Amino acid sequence: MDNRRTYTNRTSYIDSSYNQITKTNSLLNLPKISSIILPKEFELLPNTSEVFELELAFYEYNFLTKDEIIHRGAFFKSVEGIPTYHYLICSNNSPLIWEGRSQITRSYFKEGNFSTGYATHGLFPYRGKFHPQLIKGILNILKIKSGDTVLDPMCGSGTLNIEASIIGINSIGIEKSPFCVLMSKVKQEALKVDNTILPSIIKNSEKNYDILINSNKIPKEFSYYDEFKIEKTTTLLAFLDAMGYARRSSKSIDVLFPSVIKRYIGQIKSFIEMRGKLNLKIGNAKFEIGDARNLNIADNSIDAIITSPPYSFAIDYAENDRPQLEYLGYNVSKLKGKMVGLNGKNKKEKLANYFEDMNKILSEMYRVLKKGKYAVIIIGSNDVQTGGIRLETKVEEMALKIGFARDQKIVKPIKGIQNTMKDEYILFLRKV
Ligand SMILES: C[S@@+](CC[C@H](N)C(=O)[O-])C[C@H]1O[C@@H](n2cnc3c(N)ncnc32)[C@H](O)[C@@H]1O
Repeated sequence: MDNRRTYTNRTSYIDSSYNQITKTNSLLNLPKISSIILPKEFELLPNTSEVFELELAFYEYNFLTKDEIIHRGAFFKSVEGIPTYHYLICSNNSPLIWEGRSQITRSYFKEGNFSTGYATHGLFPYRGKFHPQLIKGILNILKIKSGDTVLDPMCGSGTLNIEASIIGINSIGIEKSPFCVLMSKVKQEALKVDNTILPSIIKNSEKNYDILINSNKIPKEFSYYDEFKIEKTTTLLAFLDAMGYARRSSKSIDVLFPSVIKRYIGQIKSFIEMRGKLNLKIGNAKFEIGDARNLNIADNSIDAIITSPPYSFAIDYAENDRPQLEYLGYNVSKLKGKMVGLNGKNKKEKLANYFEDMNKILSEMYRVLKKGKYAVIIIGSNDVQTGGIRLETKVEEMALKIGFARDQKIVKPIKGIQNTMKDEYILFLRKV
């Protein structure tokens, strides 16, 4: 199918819609903004309502062909009545996804299916993770294609990598926290598993749970770093998920584990079904424990970076995952010493260390990117905790000094509970 109309045609479409409105002198039947920026055969996903989402949808409409919107668009439900792959993957989600989840978690992720919980993203909902749909939209705007390699040097739960894999793009994820590397690997490998493995994960889950709960440290047969066994590691992640969950709720890990593992299997099964129906070719993702300030990656080798650093000291990522890290055999205090945002005796020292680290990270990102390519940084303003310093402004200033040009800046309001920040900024930095 084709497709691509010229940008001029598309914008003259907006002009004609705008003229129609200004001529209408009535409040009756006023058009929606989406019907002004998009022809009616392009239907947006049900919850696309924020300004930044409309902006990104409009860019996708301009940069992608109709076929590409169907195969990899992030904000569209259908084109000419043909449902998009994104819509189908999200709609096929297992109803078990919310089983056993607390009301707080449910409402935190209440945009659910269409933004955060589809494919394997819902296996361990890591605090501070990207909205996967946003990442897919950014990959599209950057025109990342098969054969390119994208990088997240602080990959957390691997959201960029999973999104890249779903649309057949190869990626690298680097993280300081070994627990994050485990969860990212499970999410990635689960995208590729054979359906026949799932019944055996369920069948052996009780036996494996007994081994895990009766040990105070990860048993040898569950080690995952060199040799990755999806059956064992999926159960291990569900166990560690239940462990964290038990710490936040009044329920015991014994009670929580069965529903967590059931939810994991339901979610993986739903994705595998869709993978088959849509004949998806899953990209490769390589994850490594590493330091974003000193990347083990060749100069000028990466086609795009999409990343979100800690927003200064807004979240203590090491403390949040202390029980899981200790179970995996890591010393949390030692780890903290290497993590951005967590070092310093007082606020002033912490902030100075944070900016010094961010400068190193930006320099490394510049070094590994190919010339002309983009590093996209998503960062919250966080001026309450920093005594008025706006992180997005400071990071942009540092990036410009290193040699980046800033081409685009999109504001995204932060929703959800207990946030100290109102907005996040999406900075598009080009290596010149
Ligand atoms: C905002 S989170 C990223 C979340 C991720 N985008 C996702 O979707 O899950 C920031 C991450 O930076 C990691 N981090 C902190 N210091 C680091 C360092 N020196 N090198 C690599 N990663 C680091 C933290 O462990 C945390 O997972």
